[in-house]
Amino acid sequence: MEIIKTITEMRHLRLKLTEPVGFVPTMGYLHKGHLALIRQARADSASVVVSIFVNHTQFGTGEDFDRYPRNSELDLSLLQKEGVDAVFIPSKAEMYPPRFSSRLEVGNITQRLEGVSRPGHFNGVATIVTKLFNIVQPTRAYFGQKDAQQAIVIKKMVADLNMNLKVITLPTVREPDGLAMSSRNNYLNPRERRVAVILYQSLALARKLWQQGENDAEYLRNEMVRLIRKEPLAAIDYVSIADPETLEELEEVKPPALVSLAIKIGETRLIDNVVLD
Ligand code: PAJ
Repeated sequence: MEIIKTITEMRHLRLKLTEPVGFVPTMGYLHKGHLALIRQARADSASVVVSIFVNHTQFGTGEDFDRYPRNSELDLSLLQKEGVDAVFIPSKAEMYPPRFSSRLEVGNITQRLEGVSRPGHFNGVATIVTKLFNIVQPTRAYFGQKDAQQAIVIKKMVADLNMNLKVITLPTVREPDGLAMSSRNNYLNPRERRVAVILYQSLALARKLWQQGENDAEYLRNEMVRLIRKEPLAAIDYVSIADPETLEELEEVKPPALVSLAIKIGETRLIDNVVLD
């Protein structure tokens, strides 16, 4: 496995990689959610590239950039076991040299859901992912349904800008109790960790009510809110049932519908979603 720190080295290596090239961009602190993407990339591709870069431009002021968990040694040993061909692990100065000033704006869908609480977040994501795509030039790139809006934004960007690759979204990997795997679960103390299952429980409630025939989106959102409010450690940022293309809130659930939420458990902000299909 090649460990690559500079853009020049990555470009050199890219010329030698056998097509098709599968790419999984990450911020490291790898868990089974990341590994599922990497395994699918491995199964689909002759060559697999993974990037590890905690991208400061997608974190807002007061967010957790400084304390975002990092463990590149452990990450590299996991990636070695997965048979990854190359890990691109650049420094901040390599990706954002002095006087770097460009920003990619994908439009309306970035202003909704996560974009309301995290203004500028998706500009940061779109900018770094574009840079990574330009450097790695993958045939296919893999993203998790866990960050549903991110996957939607990346697909829109790739389509709008005619980027020459295929974006693949894979299902959310969960803990046995339903909590979506996330590097941020690491922030939770044992009590908060027990409470965090409320995200999945409220999504499961919406799905159950919908399967029983309820398609009034406002009723479903209210039932989710009612369940979450029973938990004093949980504070709602948003609960949404939206059109997965426009991310506009629905009045009536017409599949596919994206049910998503952001909840603060203590100081930790967690997101999750399910698609009603
Ligand atoms: P990160 O949070 O490290 O996630 C990397 C990829 O793993 C994303 O596509 C994310 O959706 C996926 N992922 C995370 N948890 C998952 C889970 N439980 N099941 C399935 N997939 C999961 O997302 C980012 O990094 C960054 O925004 C990035 C795209 C790298 C740009 O900086």
